Amino acid sequence: MPQIDIALLGLGNVGRAFARYVSSDERIHIRAVADSSGGLLLDRPEQIQQLIAHKESGRSIRDFAAASFIKDAPEFVKSLSSESIRVLVESLPTNLADGQPALDSIKAALACGINAVTVDKGPLAWGFDALKEAALAGNSRLAYSGTTGVSIPDEITGERVLEIRGVLNGTTNYILTEMQERNISFGEALANAQENGIAEPDPSLDVDGWDTAVKILILAKTLMGTDAELSDVSRIGIGAQTDALIENGRATGRIVRLVGRARIWQGRVRVSVAPKLVAPESPFYSVEGTSKLAVFRTEGRSEVTAYARSGRDAISQTILDDIIKVVG
Ligand code: HSE
Repeated sequence: MPQIDIALLGLGNVGRAFARYVSSDERIHIRAVADSSGGLLLDRPEQIQQLIAHKESGRSIRDFAAASFIKDAPEFVKSLSSESIRVLVESLPTNLADGQPALDSIKAALACGINAVTVDKGPLAWGFDALKEAALAGNSRLAYSGTTGVSIPDEITGERVLEIRGVLNGTTNYILTEMQERNISFGEALANAQENGIAEPDPSLDVDGWDTAVKILILAKTLMGTDAELSDVSRIGIGAQTDALIENGRATGRIVRLVGRARIWQGRVRVSVAPKLVAPESPFYSVEGTSKLAVFRTEGRSEVTAYARSGRDAISQTILDDIIKVVG
């Protein structure tokens, strides 16, 4: 396979892990990098490792780049097409309030013919149709398997999807697993998750169900054509109050999982998130720790499942698979 020239927009944990993951992959050549302070075109391949060390010392790309720094995001994106960069990989911090500034940058890249791979859920939640239109206008491709918890299985391509159910959030699944296997409180399980670097210092996006809500929403937009917004998703997270459900599960041989669901009800696609009791025969019963699993029910193929691990290598491989897919 020929070399693929790419640009990274976002050099946080995911962006840096990906850059390291592909550092010995001869197919991938990182030619440009940007963070929220701006970007730069790299003169030499070894600069990316220097830049990672620079970011890890708490400094921004602006300090590193000095004279060659491109301050403006639209200017950065414009510079990519003249450099024959084929894929923009976007991993800026997720903004669920309006998807910006990533949404505009991805749109601009797609519209000028640069393929995009994103792991950032905000732009998909807020600009799903606009991104598709930009890709159509620019004859480019967008892939976003890293935003949905699991990748959509190839087997369901072209199928009519009737229902999607998924344990899509590693953090809450870890907390629920700890609470149930070790019989500890929500607070203790959350503290363990934070100590182990699984939960964020502010865990609300995960435990309040926002992350699952946006992942199931993106799956439902992609596969069921819904124009629902994040505010339409009925959402119940987990917390100390989940104890009662766990007790009920103990008494009835079931366990609790946080399940995102999209289904057709009264002619419309309804999207929801809630802790659910699952019986041993359910595929969700054995999804433990930070693992994730989704079940797609289609008209033609009954149920197809997709499994995913969490972690930096898993997300890096998902990005790599998406890059290969978009360059076709
Ligand atoms: N916080 C998410 C999870 C990872 O725990 O699954 C990013 O989607």
